[in-house]
Amino acid sequence: MHKEILESYPKNDKSTLIPLLQDIQSVYGYLPQEAINDIAMHTGLSRSRVYGVATFYNQFRLTPLGENIIRVCRGTACHVKNSANLLYSLENTLKIKAGDTTRDKKFTLETVACIGACSIAPVITVNDDYYGRITTKDIPNIIKKYQGKPKTEKQTKETVGA
Ligand code: FES
Repeated sequence: MHKEILESYPKNDKSTLIPLLQDIQSVYGYLPQEAINDIAMHTGLSRSRVYGVATFYNQFRLTPLGENIIRVCRGTACHVKNSANLLYSLENTLKIKAGDTTRDKKFTLETVACIGACSIAPVITVNDDYYGRITTKDIPNIIKKYQGKPKTEKQTKETVGA
């Protein structure tokens, strides 16, 4: 699938690395090892250089995302409202660390700087759904809502409390 993208870029042009990584990630949702190798061949860069850039910028992922993406806001407004406790609770509930995906590929847990909903801090999002003014007690119910649900199913746009 990524071969067509590669062919749309000039060969041996090292300056195309970042846009190539972005375009290929937009197809797969992450950067498969085979794509890293092909990008290296196409740009004339070493595989370690391509890998180094892909791991340096946190916009790039080397593993597939889970079916549901949970983002915990770590911005100032959320931080002062104990977002660290929410993250800790999610890590314990899902048995993964931020940046990881559960074994069953159901959830990926990430942190973000500010979700843009500071007035309802602390905030987490699950896919496109916002959960504001929540506490660690709300976490199990929020997780439960998404456990058996396909990602495409519409969720409530904004939920204050769970
Ligand atoms: S700081 Fe959390 S939404 Fe803005």
